[in-house]
Amino acid sequence: STSYQIASIPGDGIGPEVVSATIQVVEKLAKTLGTFQINFTHIPWGTNYYKEHGRYLSEDALTTLRKYDAGLFGAVGDPDVPDHISLWGLLLAIRGPLQLYANVRPVRTFPGTKCPLNTATGGIDWMLVRENSEGEYSGQGGRSHVGQPWEAATEVAIFTRVGIERIIRFAFETAQSRPRKHLTVVTKSNSMRNGMVLWDEIAASVAKDFPDVTWDKMLVDAMTVRMVWKPESIDTIVGTNLHMDILSDLAAALAGSIGIAPSSNLDPTRKNPSLFEPVHGSAFDIIGKGIANPVGTFWSAAEMLTWLGEKDASAKLMQCIENVCAAGILTPDLGGSSSTQGVVDAVCSEIEKLKA
Ligand code: NAD
Ligand code: IPM
Ligand code: MN
Repeated sequence: STSYQIASIPGDGIGPEVVSATIQVVEKLAKTLGTFQINFTHIPWGTNYYKEHGRYLSEDALTTLRKYDAGLFGAVGDPDVPDHISLWGLLLAIRGPLQLYANVRPVRTFPGTKCPLNTATGGIDWMLVRENSEGEYSGQGGRSHVGQPWEAATEVAIFTRVGIERIIRFAFETAQSRPRKHLTVVTKSNSMRNGMVLWDEIAASVAKDFPDVTWDKMLVDAMTVRMVWKPESIDTIVGTNLHMDILSDLAAALAGSIGIAPSSNLDPTRKNPSLFEPVHGSAFDIIGKGIANPVGTFWSAAEMLTWLGEKDASAKLMQCIENVCAAGILTPDLGGSSSTQGVVDAVCSEIEKLKA
């Protein structure tokens, strides 16, 4: 059977808790099914590493990562270090340089969990596609006259035709693969006259290649209203790096909890390994309490298995996770009283049943 080499980067905060939970579950799955092998190699990048070495990533980090089939990441961010240092030192120093330009963030309400919205199915099922390499995350900008009353700061959003076109095409393909085949292109092309208008123009032209996909466009502020008021009108959404960062947290909370939301940082050209991580961060308020929801990282690992070609194993893992949720074995963010390890054990017993 195929053997996969995975870089495990637990990072900070609850990252190590949810990553170790996920490794237990995925190793159990591989052993039980026997259809593939998977090896996790621990990589210690994070704030402890930074305190020791003065940097978040090792000098040869990108070369190191390229030796693996994929990466599984936990979280980064620590109260001792300003967030812009830690995030640009670790996560953003991987996404950009490895050109993991397609960030895929599905949101779905699981059986046994509560969606705060009133929908016919009692939940939502959306696919969010986030541009992951440019916009406000291009890293361009600066400050002048620091500390003076006339100090000025810029945060330059860069949008390129290549960058926009590749993500919009990816989003149309994603929408095409889903039953409802509908895409909403989110921009802010009323007040933003340049990059956002270019997004609109490119969307209209790429749409011509996908006659079987229906699509509409929406301004990002109005989109937050639509998510709450007309959730059933939404299927796939594509938008800029910053807009989708915000909409994906909102969507996760609307689906049930930020604790279950997965995120795939993909290089669709497959030149570089892709990176899979939960949407949430370090969650300072629950570190060490043993109650972090591991489901967002489980689901991210399932997305990783699909990406690696293990579709069947991935589907089985998702079924086990959903069975556990349906049985009410939930962490407190989902209204339950289970611990992280309680959820791990329950998912492992579901996996055990696959043997039969
Ligand atoms: P956060 O996602 O860490 O937490 C937001 C809220 O959601 C908190 O109340 C937290 O307890 C809860 N939560 C998050 N994940 C959960 C889980 N798995 N189970 C149960 N509850 C969960 O966002 P924040 O508080 O804005 O950020 C904290 C730190 O993490 C900051 O340093 C931030 O920059 C960083 N951050 C990192 C990432 C990442 O590594 N991908 C993402 C977001 C934020
Ligand atoms: C996310 C996070 C990151 C982002 C941070 C940690 C850099 O919020 O993955 O959603 O802004 O992209
Ligand atoms: Mn975010």
